[in-house]
Amino acid sequence: MGTSKKYGMNTKAIHTKKRVELPTGDVMPPIHLSTTFENTQPGEYEYFYGRSGNPTRELFERTMASLEGVEDFESMHSFGMASGMAAVTLIGELVEPGENVVITRDVYGGTTRFFSQVMTKRGIEVNFCDLYDEEKLTSLINEKTKLVWFESPSNPRINIFDISKYAEIVHKSNAYLVADGTFTSPFITRHLEHGVDIVFHSTTKYIGGHSDTLGGVVTTNNEKVWEILFEYQKTSGAIMSPFDAYLCQRGLYTLGPRLAMHSANAHKLAEYLENSEHIKEVFYPGLQSNPHYLIAEKQMDMFGGMLSFNVEDNINLKLFWENLELFKLAVSLGGVESLIELPRLMTHDSAEGTEASIDDDLVRISVGLENTEDLISDLESALNAAKK
Ligand SMILES: Cc1ncc(COP(=O)(O)O)c(C=O)c1O
Repeated sequence: MGTSKKYGMNTKAIHTKKRVELPTGDVMPPIHLSTTFENTQPGEYEYFYGRSGNPTRELFERTMASLEGVEDFESMHSFGMASGMAAVTLIGELVEPGENVVITRDVYGGTTRFFSQVMTKRGIEVNFCDLYDEEKLTSLINEKTKLVWFESPSNPRINIFDISKYAEIVHKSNAYLVADGTFTSPFITRHLEHGVDIVFHSTTKYIGGHSDTLGGVVTTNNEKVWEILFEYQKTSGAIMSPFDAYLCQRGLYTLGPRLAMHSANAHKLAEYLENSEHIKEVFYPGLQSNPHYLIAEKQMDMFGGMLSFNVEDNINLKLFWENLELFKLAVSLGGVESLIELPRLMTHDSAEGTEASIDDDLVRISVGLENTEDLISDLESALNAAKK
């Protein structure tokens, strides 16, 4: 697939080509494990050394850039990293001592920890902000602001932010707008199309899709940023391994259909929970009762597989998760299997005692691909068993 044709998302996922094709005519790409590559003359080569470039990783990086809508995806490919946090760190390298970053309060706990514990030690000012408070956001952005960072839907409250509106605010300064797109993937939201400068995903989640690979991927359509990240990726060395790149590439082939099914299941579960006497509030962007439904509809092609909810005071949470059969009590998300977790205790403990701390009774679920009626009946029987 070349740059000249405008294909649909599933076609792009399946047909983006490697830079160098094998003469064996493999229909599916092999895994290239070699760590070094032969030069025809010193300095003349297709690939040089596995850290700076690997054909398996490069195919995944080109396919991702194509899916994110980068026009020149064959040369301005994405950057495959060893984990989502390695992707966060790569982007963090753009910030110099004396500069500052502004981050939504409602982000992944590891991101909060990286910025508040690692970046501050490098002389970088880190400001957390409720992005719905536009006045505060505007007051925090100044000539020293390098990055403004958000997730939509956010983690774990599933807040939806109007991306193009924030892009407009941020681009009044020289700062870059960064999106963590882990909950959506480009099949749901192509952040660059809405004005984001740098988008990244933990590929450990929906892109890998089977809870058996750790990785991260960063994409930008800004040439200056691309050049810097390209150098940092090979220099920092936290690259995605060929085997993980193979699994992620394979994950992309079915990502569209999987997300359609995750979304359909999550929507039905959200409707069930919204009508349950055991639940105070449900956070799912596809519910028409969601205050940000119209924004979600504008920027999401599907509503995704993530939702969270507060249980009523008469529900004993311990009994609830202990009585679930299909939902596993585990962190992470985006796999074929349904997972349940308690953000305050399991993923967002770093926010404890701050403005961003999480309610005790908030539950987050990653809705898998099991039959909907089985998932609903599992929730229903566990909620009934958990009544105090
Ligand atoms: C939204 C989000 N971003 C980033 C990460 C970090 O990714 P990884 O665990 O692959 O390092 C996670 C992990 O849970 C996440 O949920």
